[in-house]
Amino acid sequence: MDILVFPVSRLSVLGIMCLLTQVITESVEKFTNKSFINPVFLPSVTNITVKRGSLAVLPCSIQYLQDKQVVWRFVDEDKFLTIGKKTWFKSDKIILEHLSQDDNITNWDLLIKNTEFKNGGMYECQITSTVDLTKRVQLNVLETTIKGDRSIDRGERIYFVCNVTGGPHIPTDITWYKDGRPITSREFPHAVITKYKSSVNNSSITEFIVDRSVFSDTGVYTCKSKTVETAEAQILLQIGDTVHVKRIPVFEDLKEEKREELSAVYSSGSLQTSSSSNNTSMSVVIKFVFILLTLINR
Ligand SMILES: *[C@@H]1O[C@H](CO)[C@@H](O)[C@H](O)[C@H]1NC(C)=O
Ligand SMILES: *[C@@H]1O[C@H](CO)[C@@H](O)[C@H](O)[C@H]1NC(C)=O
Ligand SMILES: *[C@@H]1O[C@H](CO)[C@@H](O)[C@H](O)[C@H]1NC(C)=O
Ligand SMILES: *[C@@H]1O[C@H](CO)[C@@H](O)[C@H](O)[C@H]1NC(C)=O
Ligand SMILES: *[C@@H]1O[C@H](CO)[C@@H](O)[C@H](O)[C@H]1NC(C)=O
Ligand SMILES: *[C@@H]1O[C@H](CO)[C@@H](O)[C@H](O)[C@H]1NC(C)=O
Ligand SMILES: *[C@@H]1O[C@H](CO)[C@@H](O)[C@H](O)[C@H]1NC(C)=O
Ligand SMILES: *[C@@H]1O[C@H](CO)[C@@H](O)[C@H](O)[C@H]1NC(C)=O
Repeated sequence: MDILVFPVSRLSVLGIMCLLTQVITESVEKFTNKSFINPVFLPSVTNITVKRGSLAVLPCSIQYLQDKQVVWRFVDEDKFLTIGKKTWFKSDKIILEHLSQDDNITNWDLLIKNTEFKNGGMYECQITSTVDLTKRVQLNVLETTIKGDRSIDRGERIYFVCNVTGGPHIPTDITWYKDGRPITSREFPHAVITKYKSSVNNSSITEFIVDRSVFSDTGVYTCKSKTVETAEAQILLQIGDTVHVKRIPVFEDLKEEKREELSAVYSSGSLQTSSSSNNTSMSVVIKFVFILLTLINR
């Protein structure tokens, strides 16, 4: 109690003195700050989102710490990670970055290397003193993937699934882009985009579907969140053509199974109506030539 009452009374005495003299000099200000100011957290981000596998930096800057200690805690698992400059929780992934700045400011940033999904959660930077002061930081570890065929024939269906996974705070505001431009219903009337949230693994799913592809659908497709910049993935789609292969008469007469057998010999993959065959080396070359030709012809 004495400790608490003491500074308060001295502050009020000083305040009265200041009022009486009507002079608030800089020296008095400095004196009061130096002697009685409690540690304060400087404002910094409290909600951080990183990609799985990347480095997470949880900031904690404190002014006027004086002789008090700083402790980092993983609230979700009630674990102490660091105490002072020491890493308490033994892990080579966790580093405390201590830095002294001017104006009695010290940084106690917690670095987590090579983040995994399980590192996501609530963290707490705590100043141990008579009255505990804490600052909480939410860490979200996300992974964004796109699945789908990268190489299809003209007229075939384009189907991409964008999957953002990683805990309860996954963004749902996912937008698709083609070659950097947002896919809108006006510019891409043939595209269908569906969204849903899967609760099993807390995934945010956004599908991109085009029933009959055309050559100009070739390009780089990106799905990304409008608000969380780390939620982003890309896929390169190439549209090929089977027309020339199909014109070879012998193919027209063959049954479906035989066609698949032969396709491996001639130019498999170009006849890729099913997803079974993936010997694409030849067809990729053919498709690439087609893409080049269509580009040149424009
Ligand atoms: C002292 O504290 C006052 C506010 O209480 C602030 O305006 C001033 O900048 C501080 N002075 C120093 C030297 O930190
Ligand atoms: C601020 O730092 C100076 C040295 O740079 C020190 O003398 C002073 O006591 C510190 N003040 C507080 C309030 O920690
Ligand atoms: C999304 O990704 C997560 C993690 O890889 C996976 O468990 C989940 O099944 C995926 N959801 C879909 C619909 O693909
Ligand atoms: C999914 O989110 C809910 C809250 O929306 C949370 O309770 C649950 O633990 C999360 N599951 C996983 C696997 O992160
Ligand atoms: C943190 O950010 C994520 C993504 O922007 C958001 O979903 C979540 O609600 C935020 N959490 C807090 C505690 O602000
Ligand atoms: C997704 O959920 C399944 C069980 O439904 C689980 O086996 C799998 O490990 C989860 N994946 C991730 C990345 O959380
Ligand atoms: C792919 O090609 C190799 C020879 O390059 C062949 O041995 C293999 O059976 C082919 N696989 C398929 C699925 O066509
Ligand atoms: C071919 O397909 C098999 C499974 O169908 C897959 O394991 C393999 O990685 C594929 N190879 C290439 C070169 O895409």
